[in-house]
Amino acid sequence: MPRGPSILVLSGVALGVGTAAALLLAPNLTEALRWIIRGTARSSFALFLLAFIAAPLQSLWPSPAFASLVRSRRWFGLSFALSHGVHAVAIYGLARHDPALFWTLTNFGSVISGGTAYGFILLMVLTSFDGAARWRNGRPWRWLHRFGLWYLLLSFAVAFGKRVPVDPAYGIAVALILVAIGLRVGAFFAQQRTKAVILAQR
Ligand code: HEM
Repeated sequence: MPRGPSILVLSGVALGVGTAAALLLAPNLTEALRWIIRGTARSSFALFLLAFIAAPLQSLWPSPAFASLVRSRRWFGLSFALSHGVHAVAIYGLARHDPALFWTLTNFGSVISGGTAYGFILLMVLTSFDGAARWRNGRPWRWLHRFGLWYLLLSFAVAFGKRVPVDPAYGIAVALILVAIGLRVGAFFAQQRTKAVILAQR
């Protein structure tokens, strides 16, 4: 598995190639921007899920592969932020280029809840660098990252979930979200059981 910064570089290259392909191959700019919005929503989702399930997988089934995934988690998170940055740029492009279509695809409530998600992404990125290490050991950081992760998962669940009636294939993304929640909850209870056993042995 690629390690550390190479994950971010590979993601950047893939995003650049995908964006260029959309701009070259789509029949017009509106379609190109829509391809980029949908493509980056999906790449962001894959990268986000890897960061979200890394620790629970290692906690439930410890292995060198999952340990390596945990070590790379931060880079998957940063790659997710990069991919979602491209989502934001394409959204801005669509809003400028075709405002009428933009407002048929979204609404004010989604812009506010999506904007809040971007606020979390920005704060999580800023506090994931080594320079913020001292602050990172405190409770606010842990709270921010935990809450931010769940808020982003909920954002994906709503964005994919509301498309299921139109295209049932979106159910696959919803199923993956349910599996990810199951892994997190399963790992939490497994940790609680281990703590209880250790306390009982003292
Ligand atoms: C202000 C913030 C945001 C706006 C205005 C926005 C806008 C949009 C629009 C217009 C589409 C539909 C594109 C199309 O059908 O052609 C879309 C798709 C999507 N967005 Fe965003 N978005 C925002 C933030 C987010 C966030 C924070 C997430 C998740 C964390 C997200 C996840 C998705 C997903 C999953 C899709 C569906 C992609 C697909 O069809 O496969 N968006 N967004």
